[in-house]
Amino acid sequence: MSRMEAPHFVWKDEYSVGVRAFDLQHAKLIAAIDELGVAIAEARGYRAMRSILAALAAYTEEHFSTEERILQRYSYPDVAHHLTLHRGFTQSVARYSADLQASRAVLSVAVFRFLKNWLEGHILTADMQYRPHLNGSGLR
Ligand SMILES: [Fe+2]
Ligand SMILES: [Fe+2]
Repeated sequence: MSRMEAPHFVWKDEYSVGVRAFDLQHAKLIAAIDELGVAIAEARGYRAMRSILAALAAYTEEHFSTEERILQRYSYPDVAHHLTLHRGFTQSVARYSADLQASRAVLSVAVFRFLKNWLEGHILTADMQYRPHLNGSGLR
């Protein structure tokens, strides 16, 4: 069987949003998506992909709930919109899980690309926007 080169998603310093707890959670999400990319490239089976996606869903839930709680606690003005963005991603991950469950087919690299692009884009734009607000409130 031919193997493609694994697409990777690795943490970079430019992803830092200036709040250590969030950086650690983002790194965990990035590592889970990276693992999915490797699983896809290695043509690992349905079960492996299901467990990686389940871990990603759990880390996503953990991170979004932490981030949302902090944004609310610190009265971040754009919190409602930020929650909407999170909900969209949660729904996408749930849909991929459901599709995987239903078809028992393996995931394609397009799924990896979607997850990577979404998270990278979200960290670099929406998450980065709360940085001055939270840092200004003394959160690091
Ligand atoms: Fe966020
Ligand atoms: Fe985040």
